[in-house]
Amino acid sequence: MRLILLGAPGAGKGTQAVILAEKLKIPHISTGDIFRANIKEGTELGKKAKEFIDRGALVPDDITVGIVKDRLSKPDCKNGFLLDGFPRTIPQAEYLDDVLCKMNMSVDYAINIDVPDDVIIKRLSGRRVCPACGITYHIVNNPPQQGDVCDGCVTGVVQRDDDKEETIQKRLIAYHEQTEPLIDYYKNKGKLIVVDGTKEIEEITSEILKAIGVV
Ligand code: AP5
Ligand code: MG
Ligand code: ZN
Repeated sequence: MRLILLGAPGAGKGTQAVILAEKLKIPHISTGDIFRANIKEGTELGKKAKEFIDRGALVPDDITVGIVKDRLSKPDCKNGFLLDGFPRTIPQAEYLDDVLCKMNMSVDYAINIDVPDDVIIKRLSGRRVCPACGITYHIVNNPPQQGDVCDGCVTGVVQRDDDKEETIQKRLIAYHEQTEPLIDYYKNKGKLIVVDGTKEIEEITSEILKAIGVV
């Protein structure tokens, strides 16, 4: 299964991606996670990406598409993959179609997790992440069992640098201008699935699995 998760920042793409990737036994590929790992390691890519991410802007397409192409050519993507946060612009989507076409593949479904802006702002300001294993929490909706340490690896959870109120607003503007048009792009190809992202996490997972014909 080759899947794309669409949705605004904070819609729950990462949350669903971790669960779905495990259930479907396909790799979870998040461009945001790849950029953050590079920022942490201080690579050239990380330095370039940080300039844009800190401002709440998208990283330019020419930087982003190369990373995804490399990742998709790895052997673990042979039987499918789950893209989280890519594509995020029409040119990225066209590039992806092109890359997959050359590998005799295509996207099966693009799943849009639909969440209104006011809910997004509450979610992102309460989000905490484990810097060691990447599990995502929310201080009210989905807190770690022991307060402020990760359930999985007991590392202290932290707030993401781009989850400040001012940056959240800019990310939402970038989403509406550059990413939202992808909903029609995949609708026109007959590949769009829309789920209500304001429901409970488990309920959303079940809806997605049903819509893609699993279970
Ligand atoms: P990225 O890391 O992709 O960030 P994003 O799209 O802003 O999305 P988030 O990770 O913030 O949200 P999410 O949808 O994963 O939600 P989550 O599951 O965490 O990208 C970061 C930056 O990198 C971008 O701004 C851009 O600069 C750059 N970038 C990345 N990809 C790029 C690309 N392709 N092109 C150009 N630039 C790119 O959930 C959010 C919170 O809500 C959590 O606290 C969670 O616990 C909670 N939650 C989740 N689901 C529910 C639910 N159903 N009910 C209640 N709470 C919930
Ligand atoms: Mg995410
Ligand atoms: Zn952890």
